[in-house]
Amino acid sequence: MLLDTFGRQAVDLRVSLTDKCNLRCTYCMPEEGLQWLGKSELLTDEEIVRLVSIAVTDLGVTEVRFTGGEPLLRPGLVSIVAACAELTPRPELSLTSNGIGLARTAAALKAAGLDRVNVSLDTLDPDVFFTLTRRHRHQDVLAGLAAAEAAGLTPVKLNAVLMRGVNDHEAADLLEWCLEHGYQLRFIEQMPLDAQHGWDRSQMITAEEILDRLHARFALTPEPSAARGAAPAERWLVDGGPASVGVIASVTRPFCRACDRTRLTADGQVRNCLFATGETDLRTALREGGSDAEIGALWRAAMWGKKAGAGIDNPEFLQPERPMSAIGG
Ligand code: GTP
Ligand code: 5AD
Ligand code: SF4
Repeated sequence: MLLDTFGRQAVDLRVSLTDKCNLRCTYCMPEEGLQWLGKSELLTDEEIVRLVSIAVTDLGVTEVRFTGGEPLLRPGLVSIVAACAELTPRPELSLTSNGIGLARTAAALKAAGLDRVNVSLDTLDPDVFFTLTRRHRHQDVLAGLAAAEAAGLTPVKLNAVLMRGVNDHEAADLLEWCLEHGYQLRFIEQMPLDAQHGWDRSQMITAEEILDRLHARFALTPEPSAARGAAPAERWLVDGGPASVGVIASVTRPFCRACDRTRLTADGQVRNCLFATGETDLRTALREGGSDAEIGALWRAAMWGKKAGAGIDNPEFLQPERPMSAIGG
């Protein structure tokens, strides 16, 4: 088991398959992109499957999420999913993507064993999309969402980050659109994880503001907290339900106490927290012929050192060196 000193058990593994991305969201990375990992630094498909297999078979992981950067840019994605779906016990398999390319791959991913997807979409307006992501790909994301729904990668969840003066006027429109399409919408508070270190607490749209904007058009009632488990999103029933909307308030209402996550970066480092300032190298052990037991012991030790929480509001808070796009969200 992957336990920490606060009694939490990590059962949810987030695997970053690449640090590259085909968008340039302003809250994530600069226009020119970043210094990408080199080929020899990246884990191979086989190495990823070996590590996931150790996590699932020996360490109690029951859910595996593939992330990026943009995970659809990884050529071996479908075969990685297929290999992970063969593991015993079979983990739940999901993907967090910007949706570009999903129209082409949704059916193959479903056939390989992927259970569901989360897609990021911050706006319904193609011009605002360009302002936010610096790319003209709005239509591709919409097509990807529709394909995911059609392929049965459900429930399709949609993630939206609101930026002041850019798309924050769209909160209620986004919710209305998701209700029409049957997507589960979650708003995310912007976190200090951008490569440019441009995050400004005073500019962030808080959960409270998001809820105020939604209240103007919808009646919201909190879902019982028992239904939440370790999920980052707090949910509200919309107009009496059954549809709901979520808010991931990592800054103003952190959920670290219930955290059940462990992370693997595309270059084979374990992170015990999204905001960890240190990492544990599994790639070297793997490439030097380490046994499953040895690698499992390294992973357990990495999780034992997990901090109580992210501490974003703590005056001593330090942003991790690795940006969001290389951690995997
Ligand atoms: P599901 O609801 O099970 O699909 O998972 P999820 O909401 O965690 O997945 P997703 O990958 O869509 O992430 C949504 C947002 O939650 C992203 O902004 C993530 O960065 C954030 N998030 C994911 N894990 C953590 C975490 O451990 N801590 C914090 N603070 N945020 C997280
Ligand atoms: N703060 C909050 N969410 C972010 N995402 C990317 N960068 C940030 C940030 N700094 C979101 C993406 C995607 C999810 C994985 O994380 O929009 O939906
Ligand atoms: Fe790409 Fe996601 Fe970063 Fe946007 S937030 S640039 S989609 S990695």
